[in-house]
Amino acid sequence: MPMPQELTVGQLAARSGVAVSALHFYEAKGLIRSRRTAGNQRRYTRDTIRRVAFVRLSQSVGISLNAIAGALATLPEERTPTREDWAALSASWRADLDARISALEQLRDDLSDCIGCGCLSLDRCALANPRDELGQEGPGPRRLIAKATACGVPDCT
Ligand code: FES
Repeated sequence: MPMPQELTVGQLAARSGVAVSALHFYEAKGLIRSRRTAGNQRRYTRDTIRRVAFVRLSQSVGISLNAIAGALATLPEERTPTREDWAALSASWRADLDARISALEQLRDDLSDCIGCGCLSLDRCALANPRDELGQEGPGPRRLIAKATACGVPDCT
């Protein structure tokens, strides 16, 4: 049996694993598009499945919906994105994703140590942040903020 070229919202939800309500939300945010039938029912092209997967994966690594929408806006709307289209998109995000991975690795590795938050609750704090000297630099976990700033991820604190 041939695969349908257009999907109903229920078919898209079933194949993507995303609830119909979430798909409606994505559409309202401009992340995906549909056409309406004569009976005012939504129909999605098959490449919408890939767009939804892209949105879900991007969200899972902490990328905002606005940033995702901006990225998707670079893909063609009137035709199915080609392999080259997706390659260009992934290349443009590579540096950002590398920086996020680095920041997550830092968080994983440093969370058992003093992060300079001002709590002075670990035995290491007296050495790493005596008398909360790092608090002079500003609010928040200063040692993590310094590394996040160095990693280059915008708003990564
Ligand atoms: S962990 Fe909070 S000041 Fe050290």
